[in-house]
Amino acid sequence: MKFTFYGHSCFAIEVAGKKLLFDPFVTGNPLAKDKIDINSIEADYILVSHGHGDHTGDLVAIAKNTKATVITAYEIVNWLNAQGIDHAHPMNFGAFNFEFGEVRFTPATHSSALPDGSYGGNPGGFLIKTSEGNIYYTGDTCLTMDLQLIPRYAKLDFAIMPIGGNFTMNVSDAIMAAEMVQAKKVIGVHFDSFGYIKIDHDKAKADFKAAGLELVLPEIGASFEI
Ligand code: NI
Ligand code: MN
Repeated sequence: MKFTFYGHSCFAIEVAGKKLLFDPFVTGNPLAKDKIDINSIEADYILVSHGHGDHTGDLVAIAKNTKATVITAYEIVNWLNAQGIDHAHPMNFGAFNFEFGEVRFTPATHSSALPDGSYGGNPGGFLIKTSEGNIYYTGDTCLTMDLQLIPRYAKLDFAIMPIGGNFTMNVSDAIMAAEMVQAKKVIGVHFDSFGYIKIDHDKAKADFKAAGLELVLPEIGASFEI
């Protein structure tokens, strides 16, 4: 699997021959807008955890550019349909088999409205089981007992979690979350993009290490095998 970070909670994973893009938000991110050209982003599928602008800011543009199938909450698919995007797959909390593997839309404890105020349905995360390994992205959430269900569905080598605090889990919450989902490695997202969520990188990594875990804080634009 190849992981590419586009800043905030926007990342891509290449798996089973498909390019999956998550939570497209680049041009509104002061840290990413000069580093990433959204017209260069390729995707076969776009997975959207919830409706907030810092997860959907470039969704319509990239969905139109790439013609990717958008996988997200039913209510967000309705919003996309109203903007002329019909290549979308609506979900609620449940699982469906796609050509690259099984996608389970999992609960997140957060909120979800689109930037224009439209109702975004329930916020969630994605547990994806593929022949090349399993992926779990919690989406924006606080620490919640629901995370304890994840190991019943899949064994994880890594998980992707927000760690910036204020709107989501912070570093110490994410350490507890990693223990709940039984992932030794966490790729941190949703940090530094704006003032409320700035973190101390060295301390965050040291705190994970002290708990016997590894925290990866990707650079914007970086790609690596995971
Ligand atoms: Ni949010
Ligand atoms: Mn967010």
